[in-house]
Amino acid sequence: MTWLITGGAGYIGAHVVRALGAAGERVVVLDDLSSGLPERLPAEVPVVEGTVLDRDLLDRTLAGHEVRGVVHLAARKQVGESVEQPLRYYRENLHGLTVLLEAVVAAGVDRFVYSSSAAVYGMPDVDLVTEDTPCVPMNPYGETKLAGEWLVRATGRRHGLATACLRYFNVAGAAAPELSDVGVSNVIPMFFEALTRGEAPRVFGDDYPTPDGTCIRDYVHVADLADAHVVAARHVAAASEAGGGAEDLTVNIGTGTGVSVHEIAGLVADVTGLREPAPRVVARRPGDPARVIASAELIRRELGWKPRHDVRDMIVSAWEGWRLRHP
Ligand code: WQD
Repeated sequence: MTWLITGGAGYIGAHVVRALGAAGERVVVLDDLSSGLPERLPAEVPVVEGTVLDRDLLDRTLAGHEVRGVVHLAARKQVGESVEQPLRYYRENLHGLTVLLEAVVAAGVDRFVYSSSAAVYGMPDVDLVTEDTPCVPMNPYGETKLAGEWLVRATGRRHGLATACLRYFNVAGAAAPELSDVGVSNVIPMFFEALTRGEAPRVFGDDYPTPDGTCIRDYVHVADLADAHVVAARHVAAASEAGGGAEDLTVNIGTGTGVSVHEIAGLVADVTGLREPAPRVVARRPGDPARVIASAELIRRELGWKPRHDVRDMIVSAWEGWRLRHP
C-alpha cells in the first residue's frame, strides 16, 4: 500500500516522509509548493504538485498510486495571518480537508492521519494539558484545526475510516540541516535571526505567573514528531485491517516537559556562542498563554511513543540548519 502525504514538502511533512520511508512504507507527496521545498525530498519519492482543493487531481493521485492511507499535513499555520485572513484559513484548511475527505471516501481509502495542533486548546488553565482539557481555540487557525478534527471523526464514523488526530505542541529542530524550517515565525529561529543581525532577541513579557516570569511551552523535536506519525499510521492500518472500521485516536504530541523563554534564550546563547546582544524584555504578545505543557501519557500508553530528544538537541539541530541556509 501507499501513503499519500499532503504537505509532504513542508518542514514537518518532509520529516514524516523520511520517517515513513525509513520504516519501509511507500509514499507519494502532494504539495502545492507554496511553502514546501521539493529539494527536501529524496529523489525516489513521487511529488504531485497541486492542492487538496483540486478534487480531480486528488482522484487521479489516489487511484494512480494505489493509495490506501493519507497523512494530511497540508495547511496554513500562522496564527497572526489567520486573524488577518480568516476566509483563506477556513478555505485552505477546512474546505481543503472537506474536498480531500470526499475524495478519500470515494476512493475507498480507509486510513487517515490528521495534523492537529495544541492551538485547539487556546489558553488552557491547567498544569498539564490532557486530551480531555476543553478545546477553546483563540484564533481562526486553531478553529480550523478543531473543526477539522470534528470533520475527520464524523467522516470516520459514517464511512468506516480509522483515523488519528495528532495535536502537535511546539515543534522545533531538524533531523538533518537540509530539512530544517525556513520560516522565521517561531521563537528559536526568531532568536537566531535577531542574533545573527546583531539585534537583541525579544522576550515577550517576563511578568507571567511562571517561575522566571516568561512563558512556558512544550517543545518537541520534529524527528520525534515524525516518528509519532509512523506509529499513528501503523495504528490506523492495524485498526482497518482488524476490520473494526471507524475508530479514532486523538492524542497530544509533546514531551510533558515545560521550557521557559528565558531558558530558550540561555540555550540559544550556549549553542550559537552568540551572547551579545543580550535578550531584551518587551511587552507581552497578545494571546500568549503563560504555560502550555502536554500530558504525553495517552500517546505513550496507546502507541508506545516517547520522545528521544531534548530541547538542546532541537536548538543544536535548528542552528545547523540555520547556518546551512545563512552561510
Ligand atoms: C513560543 C514562546 C512567545 C518569539 C505557535 C502557535 C501554535 C503552534 C506553534 C502551529 C511564546 C515567545 C516568541 C519571540 C518570544 N503553531 N517568544 N520572543 O506561540 O507557543 O505557538 O506555534 O500549530 O499554534 O500559536 O510559539 O514559537 O511563537 O512562541 O518571547 O521573538 O516564545 O511569547 O511564549 P507559540 P512561538
